[in-house]
Formats: sequence, structure tokens, C-alpha cells
Amino acid sequence: MKEEFKIIILEDVQYDVELIEYELRREGIKFTSKQVEIEEDFIKGLNIFKPDVILADHSLPKFDGVSALEIAKKIVPEVPFIFVSGKIGDEFAVDMLKKGATDYVFKNNLTKLVPAILRAITERDELTELKRSKIELQIALQEKEMLLKEIHHRVKNNLIMISNLLELQSHYIKDKTDFNFFRESQNRANSMALIHERFYQSSDLKSIDFGDYICTLATDLVNTYVNASGQINLITDVENIMLDIDTAIPLGLILNELLTNSLKYAFPVTSSCGLSDGTSASSAAFNCRFEDLTSISSSNTVQESVNKNARITVIFHKISDKFELIVKDNGIGFPKDLDYKKTGTLGLELINRITKQIDGIIELDTSEGTEFKITFKELEI
Ligand SMILES: Nc1ncnc2c1ncn2[C@@H]1O[C@H](COP(=O)(O)OP(=O)(O)O)[C@@H](O)[C@H]1O
Ligand SMILES: [Mg+2]
Repeated sequence: MKEEFKIIILEDVQYDVELIEYELRREGIKFTSKQVEIEEDFIKGLNIFKPDVILADHSLPKFDGVSALEIAKKIVPEVPFIFVSGKIGDEFAVDMLKKGATDYVFKNNLTKLVPAILRAITERDELTELKRSKIELQIALQEKEMLLKEIHHRVKNNLIMISNLLELQSHYIKDKTDFNFFRESQNRANSMALIHERFYQSSDLKSIDFGDYICTLATDLVNTYVNASGQINLITDVENIMLDIDTAIPLGLILNELLTNSLKYAFPVTSSCGLSDGTSASSAAFNCRFEDLTSISSSNTVQESVNKNARITVIFHKISDKFELIVKDNGIGFPKDLDYKKTGTLGLELINRITKQIDGIIELDTSEGTEFKITFKELEI
């Protein structure tokens, strides 16, 4: 608390001013006071004298305490305003407190004045401190958000860089299978980069609209794998569900693997097509998959050779407390002799592991094409 207070005393009776000052001194309060009687001097005092406390009489010949309170609340709302009056009734006092007065003291009981001032000053200081802490907290929160944004941005950029490196390196690869491994790793990095991009664009930085993410990722993948995008009907039936990063990243990876598989395996080209590496088309009747089509010129022959009803559907819903992600295609179907839990291949190995990690369940339905359903609950953080 300050050593010396600046006090404005709104009072026309000199004797009352002296009594107030006497009381302050008697209680050992150090102060500088400024007595005012009219509105103009009161406003000037607020702006120039800058009081720590305002003591105001209720009625004066040319001004009044109620108007003074209104003015003070506008100009210096944080400065305690105490009525020191002889005439205020209880109802009026309550009314003034409601309007922002800090306290009221009767002139015939001035011993209450100093405790009232000290209480008001303490409250004001606490309030100022609270406000300061609140501002500091807000600044810290903003800084944290900025940092988080920056991190998401950097992680995204690094993932894109990895993806570009894989792309560059893939140009040196002669073997088609190896080339495709690179391509898939590139897509994995891209699918994660997209999640981080969504996070730094999100308003709360805590969750992203996963339905929206599904649509973008699915469209990107179809465009990557299918040369003429019209060849596959991509159907999305997704809810705009907000997911946090711990759920979004694993789920994004699962989605990436399932979509990639449907694009790669569900719709083999059944008639002749030319492969860029010179492989004869007839020998590659079932091997000429969409992944290969990216390296084939988009001739009409190729487009016509693809099943026109090819369809990949992605469904994402919340059913009671569980989420359900379904990726299905109406393609050739998952190989009957293959156990999807033990394929010994990376894609399904990843899907199995990640689903376990998010406490999910995988179901495979092969009654029409291939349908993978992942059911899980959002992770509790
Ligand atoms: N949608 C699908 N339609 C047909 N076959 C599929 C489908 N998804 C997966 N498969 C089969 O499962 C196998 C394993 O897939 P995966 O583990 O992702 O490995 P990879 O994609 O590297 O071959 C594939 O080689 C393919 O034979
Ligand atoms: Mg795969």
C-alpha cells in the first residue's frame, strides 16, 4: 500500500473538510487533499490531481454527490468513491453502492472513515493485481498458442520436406515395387502433414474437423493414384466431428492405409493397358493397378478399361460414445486366403497396431467388395 494518499474532498463546508482531515491525521494517514465544490473543479481534479480516493458529500449548493459518482465512474472507475454525508438514508446508500460507490460514512461517525478508506484501497489494489494477473495470463496464453501454431507449422513443413525427399529419391529407383514403397511412405508423410496443417488453422488449436480432413485426404489420394479422376467414384458420408491430435493422427494414418489399399487393389484394370516401364500389358492384366496408371498417359483406352462403377465410400459417424470409420469399395474383394490380422505386410500391420493403440476394433466385411470398419472411443487425455 502507498505511503501517502491523494484525496479529493467534494465538500462546500470548510468546517467539515477540517473535521475529515483531522480524522485522517489522527489515524496517522499521510495524505495530500484537494477540496472541490463544483463540477468543473471535480473533473479537473480527477484528471490532473489523480486521486487515490474520493470523499464526497451528498449535496452541495452547485453540484451533488450522485452526479460526481457518475462522472468518477466514467473517468476513474477504479478509484474508490466514499460518500461522507450527514443525510443519506439506508435506501439511498444501497442505491449508491449499486451505482458503484465503494462505501458511505456518516459525518457524525467519522471514526469509521479511515477503516473505510483503507478497506477500499486494499480492495482496489487487489482488484488491480487481479486484473494485472489476468492480463499476464492472457498474454502467456497467446504466446503459448503462437508457439503451438508455430510447432504445427514446422512439423507440417518438415513432413512435406520428407515427402519431397522421398519423391526426389524415388526417381532413382528402377524397381516398380520399391518405387511404390516410396510412394506410399510419401503419402503417409503427406497425410500427417495435412493433419498438422489443419491444427494450426483451427481456431482452438486443440481439435480439427475430422470429417473435413477425410474429404481432403480422400480427394488428394484419389488424385494421386488415379490418373483420370473420373474413374473412381469417391463417396463420403462423414460427420463434422472434432477430434484432438492424439486421435486424429492415428486415425488419419489408418484412413490413409485403407484408402490406399482400395485404390491399389480393389479395381485392377481388366483389359489391355501400357505400362511406363515397358511391361507388356497383357501379362499385367491384373497387375496394372491404379498406382500404375499415374505413369501411363491418360489415353482413352486406359480410361475405358477401368470399371466405370468403381466406388470407394468413406463413412464417419459418432454413434453414442463411439466413433465409426468405414472405408469400403465395391472392388474384387479382399483375398479369401489372407488373414487381415496376419498379412505380414506393412499396411495392414500398421492398421492393426494403430487400432490397438487407440483401443479400437477392426471388422472386415467381404460380402460386397471390401469393407473395413474401425470402431473406437476418443482417447481421454
Ligand atoms: N481393398 C482391398 N481390395 C482388395 N485387396 C486388398 C484390399 N486391401 C488390401 N488388400 C490385400 O491385402 C494385402 C495387404 O495389404 P497391405 O498390408 O496394405 O500391404 P500392401 O499395400 O503393401 O500390399 C494387399 O496386398 C492386397 O492383396
Ligand atoms: Mg497397403
